[in-house]
Amino acid sequence: MSIFKKVYILLVLVLPILSFCEDNSQFRILDIIAKKRDNIELTKKEINYFVQEYTENKIEDYQASSFLMAIFINSMTPDETAYLTNAMINSGKILNFDEISDPIVDKHSTGGVGDKTSLILAPICASLGLKVPMISGRGLGHTGGTLDKLESIDGFNVNQDSENFKQIVKDVGVCIIGQTKDIAPADKKIYALRDVSGSVESIPLIASSIMSKKMAEGLDVLVMDVKTGKGALIKDYESSLKLAIAMQNIGEKLNTKVIAIVSDMNQPLGMAVGNSLEIIECMQILKGECQKGQEDLRDLSFTLASQMLIAANKAENEKDAIDKINRVINDGSAFEKFKEMVKAQNGNEKSLDDYSLLPTANFKYFLKATKSGFVNTLDAMKIALGSSILGSGRKTIEDEIDLSVGVIIYKKISDFVEDSDILLEIHYNDESKLKEALSFFEDAYEIEDENVCSPALIKKILK
Ligand code: URA
Repeated sequence: MSIFKKVYILLVLVLPILSFCEDNSQFRILDIIAKKRDNIELTKKEINYFVQEYTENKIEDYQASSFLMAIFINSMTPDETAYLTNAMINSGKILNFDEISDPIVDKHSTGGVGDKTSLILAPICASLGLKVPMISGRGLGHTGGTLDKLESIDGFNVNQDSENFKQIVKDVGVCIIGQTKDIAPADKKIYALRDVSGSVESIPLIASSIMSKKMAEGLDVLVMDVKTGKGALIKDYESSLKLAIAMQNIGEKLNTKVIAIVSDMNQPLGMAVGNSLEIIECMQILKGECQKGQEDLRDLSFTLASQMLIAANKAENEKDAIDKINRVINDGSAFEKFKEMVKAQNGNEKSLDDYSLLPTANFKYFLKATKSGFVNTLDAMKIALGSSILGSGRKTIEDEIDLSVGVIIYKKISDFVEDSDILLEIHYNDESKLKEALSFFEDAYEIEDENVCSPALIKKILK
């Protein structure tokens, strides 16, 4: 073994393990809880101690939840947040794409309704020379999940082992898989505790949770889409901006380029909500067939992709990036790239042209306006809850979902509607679920005589 290889193994493989297995005998969890309670900044070693000991079941849940609540109340400094992220990254496996020379990039969204930008921007970026190893999630609560959408495609396999995952990223340029147990296991345990002890909505805890999983992918560039509005995890703009800044700070302190975009999630993105309906909509955008009502989806996907291209030095500026994106849409190479990925992950690529091969609901119901006027509100949360009742979403991660159901949105904020115009095309399989969902869909719309401006799609880009 060459001296270079020995040094490499020491730096990349052994040191992170040693640093995660530090001598922790000098610490007591009680002192650390009290320090956080009294709002005194914690050291890297104290935070490492908490993460390591809790992951190894050496700290009781009641003490860990007390510590997390102290963080919720007193927050964390940027240094503490970065230490926590780093400790959670080192609790598991870190992917290594060193043999690939192209930039390794990914994008993550804090979750929205009709948010399918990953499925559009990933093949665009891959067809422009970036490598996109995307680890995605399933829909939970009101937000949809990329993995569920992909599983609408017959045979699509989101469970690739790490060798296949790397090979597909290398050969195709993009591969989308589910979270594996060995990536940031500390986050999994801490998140589960936060969920039952009232500390989910803490900016440093959310930021470190998301960033630990993403940074374990071994990325050069991460673009974060922080949603704000009625259908977002964080609803008010100021807090969404704080989250975006916290994630960018983590990137800076841990040497990964992070671009954070704050984007609107008051109304659903695009026209489709529901798994197979969203796949069809993505194919329309990738084929350059964008319709009225889908411009926000196209524009946000292209903006996120352009930031990935610029940050990875594949485009000089926004205009250059958008020109390149339009080229791969117009010449069909972005769509072909998506097809290639589907084939590599055992999906039936024929369904990307023949949509009747995707799961299709048995019935359609058309929700119509009961008066004329302008759409002032189209509440993303109510559309998501209605769609979830039809069967497209889950309350707990074990729930089964119906990939065929959902809605097509005909009218969005600031559109004029005549009395009896169609607002929603509802795809359903079960009459009783439709009845229950309808009250949410009806409540989602507010139609008034006065018009309002459509909410600005992109509120902020932190480069
Ligand atoms: N998503 C995550 O992965 N973690 C959080 O804390 C919140 C949303």
